[in-house]
Amino acid sequence: MKYGYFDDRAKEYVITRPDTPYPWINYLGSEDFFSLISNSGGGYCFYRDARMLRITRYRYNNVPTDGGGRYFYINDGGDVWCPGWMPVKAKLDSYECRHGLGYTVITGERGGLKCSDTAMVPVGTPCEAHRVVLENVSGSAKDVDLYSFVEFCLWNALDDQTNFQRNYSIGEVEVIGSAIYHKTEYRERRNHYAVFSVNADIAGFDTDRETFMGLYNGFDSPDAVYENRSRNKIASGWAPIGSHHIKAHLEPGERKSYIFVLGYCENPKDDKWEAQDVINKRPAEAILSKFRTDEQFESEMEKLKAYWEKLLSTYSVESADEKLDRMVNIWNQYQCMVTFNMSRSASYFESGIGRGMGFRDSSQDLLGFVHLIPERARERLVDIASTQMADGSAYHQYQPLTKKGNTDVGSGFNDDPLWLIFGVAAYVKETGDLSILDEQVPFDNDESNTATMMEHLKRSFDHVPNNLGPHGLPLIGHADWNDCLNLNCFSDTPGQSFQTASNRESGDVAESVFIAGMFVAVAPDYIELCRRCGNTAEAERAKTEADKMYDSVLKYGWDGAWFLRAYDAFGEKIGSDECDEGKIFIEPQGFCVMAGIGVKEGLAKRALDSVKEKLDTKYGIVLNQPAYTRYHLELGEISSYPPGYKENAGIFCHNNPWISIAETVIGRGNRAFEVYRKTCPAYLEDISEIHRTEPYVYSQMIAGRDAVNHGEAKNSWLTGTAAWTFWNVSRYILGVMPDYDGLKIDPCIPDTLTAFTVTRRFRGDTFVIEVDNRAHAEKGVKSIVCDGSPVDGVLRSSGTGAIHSVKVIMG
Ligand code: BGC
Ligand code: NOJ
Repeated sequence: MKYGYFDDRAKEYVITRPDTPYPWINYLGSEDFFSLISNSGGGYCFYRDARMLRITRYRYNNVPTDGGGRYFYINDGGDVWCPGWMPVKAKLDSYECRHGLGYTVITGERGGLKCSDTAMVPVGTPCEAHRVVLENVSGSAKDVDLYSFVEFCLWNALDDQTNFQRNYSIGEVEVIGSAIYHKTEYRERRNHYAVFSVNADIAGFDTDRETFMGLYNGFDSPDAVYENRSRNKIASGWAPIGSHHIKAHLEPGERKSYIFVLGYCENPKDDKWEAQDVINKRPAEAILSKFRTDEQFESEMEKLKAYWEKLLSTYSVESADEKLDRMVNIWNQYQCMVTFNMSRSASYFESGIGRGMGFRDSSQDLLGFVHLIPERARERLVDIASTQMADGSAYHQYQPLTKKGNTDVGSGFNDDPLWLIFGVAAYVKETGDLSILDEQVPFDNDESNTATMMEHLKRSFDHVPNNLGPHGLPLIGHADWNDCLNLNCFSDTPGQSFQTASNRESGDVAESVFIAGMFVAVAPDYIELCRRCGNTAEAERAKTEADKMYDSVLKYGWDGAWFLRAYDAFGEKIGSDECDEGKIFIEPQGFCVMAGIGVKEGLAKRALDSVKEKLDTKYGIVLNQPAYTRYHLELGEISSYPPGYKENAGIFCHNNPWISIAETVIGRGNRAFEVYRKTCPAYLEDISEIHRTEPYVYSQMIAGRDAVNHGEAKNSWLTGTAAWTFWNVSRYILGVMPDYDGLKIDPCIPDTLTAFTVTRRFRGDTFVIEVDNRAHAEKGVKSIVCDGSPVDGVLRSSGTGAIHSVKVIMG
């Protein structure tokens, strides 16, 4: 069942009923100011850091779900309702929510009144702006009362939810005209405040939640709105809010529009005050002056649309499959940008106070946005590498504001260092910019200990051969990509963090076949980067190491019909037919084949056939089988999950594209696409009642076949799935792949796809690549002609902005 439809021309998803199977959200903001907004106006906003500078309050796990946001209440002659349906839930005569790129428009109609709220975070101004339009669609004049509502967070989101003995006494606001200033803690160490204003005269205001709402009422029944009278109260302590009361007289057919702005304002530390206790309002005025008129609002919308138009024109496809096109051209790339901005911090499943930036997560996310914003990818790589330790190991996470490694989570996730090579290689292949390799980058953020980026890559690479176990395979350390395969954890204490505990003192023997595969997969890039720096001796040494690892995988990492997953702390096999549970895992099948291991020996095909036979379901490929049915002390968090969820036999969408890519390595385009399609949200739109999360973005996990709710997705938006699926579909399936000297063209597609065109901006030029597959091939290029001349090898950019016409014939 569907709850809306894609409007591809407008690049919007249009939700047509408010009671979606889960709140379906959008992200606003592309620089410093970010908002999460659901299809009923729920959500919150923050400046730069979702934990430290939270602007509005949001209660996770609330009852009902998604209570709290920016609300516009209407009192139309005693009839109270909201255009987004929530929180009042008065039945609407019509409802629509359009989630677009960086903006959301929610429109509701009831009793002859239409109200639409266009919400956006503009480019270049730290605020969330809402244009609210009231339109009298009835035959008689109306006097309408409109109330805005936001609840302020006392900045530190964790403290805000826990430290009530202090918080109930510190809230402070100021009100001048139509502007409400939230200035809690500004009197002491903060130099920032929030402003919430409207470009119209107001009939009243509220700043104290209890007086506005009534202590025993919910968001659905605020006293002020029902009694149609603002209290004009200045909050002192408790819970500061911002609410404006506007009175509008509307003749039949008349429209009135109001622009509400919620801004983040910062002053220099020595220029905080205008007078004793009066805050310096210049930054607020600067923000508000940009949104005084409808024309200004519209021009900010145009700027926003132009921003996205330009970004997304970097890569686009035109084929006969509209679902494929809309995912590639719009939503998959959009989600990649959101993961760039948010990492894993703030979603409807990530509270914004938990995780920092992951070393691995951020390096992977980069694969999805490097073509869109290469300069920012470069900065990101330097930030990530700066947290690396001198021995090549890495902090698992770092803090976005300080950019320092997070000592609480620490190190020891032994795949982490390799992701840096992956990221840097992706950047160099996109841009051709080898200068990043010469950049001086500190270790552990210590400016007195720096080395070139190339040296960082060497330490990353060497960290693997420097840490081998008894079978010559990489030691897993705390965990590898699968954060929940904790082979040295041995935790029997409730509540102890699987992510940090290491209770086993003796002998470090647990090994990962996944890391081995990954090592062989990234080695060619490391080798090529060495060569390009003129270091052929190092390139040869690296090649020897990679060959050794290849052999170790064949010798100790092959189980007969698939690749083993690991050896545990006792040297016992994991992911082997010999095991009772967890006989086969997805990760090594994907990465070993991507690395080319076993291709010529015929094992790669065998492994992928085993994946199909043992792990495939109609909703995607599960992580392992059989699921663990009890807690295994020697395996850790993976076995803590009930069967079918998360890393214990859930469909962990992130690694499905690995299998799809692996299928392209052995040339099976039909199967590669089948795997792509199964987890791809646009193809799941029709089963939204089962899938539940947004049909326009990927979720981290879909419940596997062992779970009660097989097919139900969770953890939408912030997942490495976004980057990996785009990496797969753009480079391996559609086959337009940046390489060191230019674009390599080598599609691997379903044989039913007879033609498609990819337009790719690359190093300044644009390539319009028309692929002719009337031969019904799955892989194989017969000829490439660029601007009339045959091409042998890659498409080279002239850097002049030229537009090239490329004809590719498959067969
Ligand atoms: C989750 C993993 C996640 C890890 C680190 C675990 O509980 O299952 O998916 O990577 O936490 O936050
Ligand atoms: C989510 C984490 O963010 C990611 O780093 C990890 O690889 C997967 N979970 C699998 O455990």
